[in-house]
Amino acid sequence: MSIKKIGSITECCQNDCNIFESIDTNISIGHTRWATHGRVTVNNSHPHISSDGCFALVHNGIIENYNLLKEELEHESICFASETDSEVIVNLIAKYYSECNDINAAIIRTNERLIGSFTYLLVTIYDLKHIYGCCYKGTLGYQIVEGMTVIASDQIAIAPYSDDAIFFEDGDIFKASNTEVECFSTRENKEVTRETIKIPKASLCEKNEYSNYMIKEINETPRAINVCNKNIDKKVLMEIAEDIHEKKLCIVGAGSSFFVAQLGQYIFSSLANKDSKVHSADEFLNIYKPTQLNHLIALSQSGETFDTLDVLKKFSEKGAKITSINNVNGSASQRLSQFPILQDCGPELSVLSTKSVSIQVIIIYKIAITLGLINGSLKQEEYNKYMEDSIILESVVSEFIQNKSEEIRKIAERQKEIKNCFFIGNGLNYPVAMESSLKFKEVTYYHSEGISSGSLKHGSLSLIDRSFYTIAFLPNKDAEEKMFYHIMTNISEIQARGGDVIAFGSDDSKMAEFNNLSAYIKIMPVNKYLDSVLFLVAGQLYAYHTAAILKRDIDKPRSLAKAITVS
Ligand code: AGP
Repeated sequence: MSIKKIGSITECCQNDCNIFESIDTNISIGHTRWATHGRVTVNNSHPHISSDGCFALVHNGIIENYNLLKEELEHESICFASETDSEVIVNLIAKYYSECNDINAAIIRTNERLIGSFTYLLVTIYDLKHIYGCCYKGTLGYQIVEGMTVIASDQIAIAPYSDDAIFFEDGDIFKASNTEVECFSTRENKEVTRETIKIPKASLCEKNEYSNYMIKEINETPRAINVCNKNIDKKVLMEIAEDIHEKKLCIVGAGSSFFVAQLGQYIFSSLANKDSKVHSADEFLNIYKPTQLNHLIALSQSGETFDTLDVLKKFSEKGAKITSINNVNGSASQRLSQFPILQDCGPELSVLSTKSVSIQVIIIYKIAITLGLINGSLKQEEYNKYMEDSIILESVVSEFIQNKSEEIRKIAERQKEIKNCFFIGNGLNYPVAMESSLKFKEVTYYHSEGISSGSLKHGSLSLIDRSFYTIAFLPNKDAEEKMFYHIMTNISEIQARGGDVIAFGSDDSKMAEFNNLSAYIKIMPVNKYLDSVLFLVAGQLYAYHTAAILKRDIDKPRSLAKAITVS
């Protein structure tokens, strides 16, 4: 049996915990755990083995009451080898099994004691033919292929074996052999068969000619725009907009998805004259009390982010209507919403969100213009023009990536030694600046801040000197003259204190000379809302090239994970 953990777990155990290594079966479990309790050490890594050596477990989630349970078990002379919360689960199962000799009963009794989220797989020396498990506030799917059962929390892990998979639901416990999975719903109190859903084709997960997924996925943005324009059903947009029209709008997301939510706030206000409440998912419920009068737009590439799901569930409980915008078919967010919109960008494997961010903006834009049409903020011709712009965007983004990537790389090369920078913008470009800063710090490990240009003078300007530079996103001079001159004043204030400024904008290339910019990259304007997508792509390329020059681990930056399924 493949239970490998190199370390001294036997030292504090009652029995020899290596029983598993001497057993010959065809079962194997493993887990890449994002550190939550204790440092990244061999002892803290999964699988965890019960103190009696008879059970091994991998766990996704957090056991909130683990300290109390651990104390209780230690009083019963059960020894722990790690600092993790997960180890209490396997020891509770072992304890209850010793009392009832029934694995399923031990699992059910254990789950009744746990507070938090727990999706886990369990193997035991008492049954060498099965993997046991449960799904509670997490995602877990499986497929049976040619005498083999693959179970995984991510669709991408199942993709090499099948084009579809079956996903467990909250409260399911199961027993899997290599030919069959028996699933029991503790909520419905009966045996259940869950729905089969389509998952991405394995071929879409190849890097092909690219050296990493981040650059591949940035390059896939034009195609994703094309798919989005074709697939997003106008009828669905209309239904969503009609409901939003009647309700108080809230928009939520975490990390990059939160910055898209903030862009949404500007877009809804400007195109549809609609106010919205926007907060980061981790703080939303500390500020806002949802009611049935709300419509929530929940943005999440993965559709599994704990904080966002938490908000979504609370709104749902209160009777609010939910639109979910996700890139993963069948994700928890999609399942829990009245209006699930699939981004359909193709799998995004880099930890850095790129193409999915751009598509989220376009979907928000489409909902906003539909609402604008319904509530009279936009005339039919204006709506038609905005729709046409979203079609044009595909080729503009494609040309931008092809023609400007090398220019952006050269700037990144020149700036690579400077470890501090601001990203600034005003209006729609304020959230763009924050998102670009997040992308930059995430992948380069350099310090950056995304702020509104007008707020610099209220304190942050004191950081400016020759060792600090600024990246500015400029509004179009003709379209937004006042905002343009406002940010140019802010830029002069930075330059007056010795700071270098690099800018992205849509005005002519003389901009750099006229304004003493140390570099200027021009985007082709589409309209001020969709120009955000071009600026976001520019920010992604800048972060990417800097990280590549610094030889960072681009797709898996240190300390980060793709989907954060814990609180
Ligand atoms: C983006 O580059 C980040 N990795 C991160 O901020 C991410 O956007 C966030 O964790 C939310 O993920 P989601 O969109 O899958 O909910």
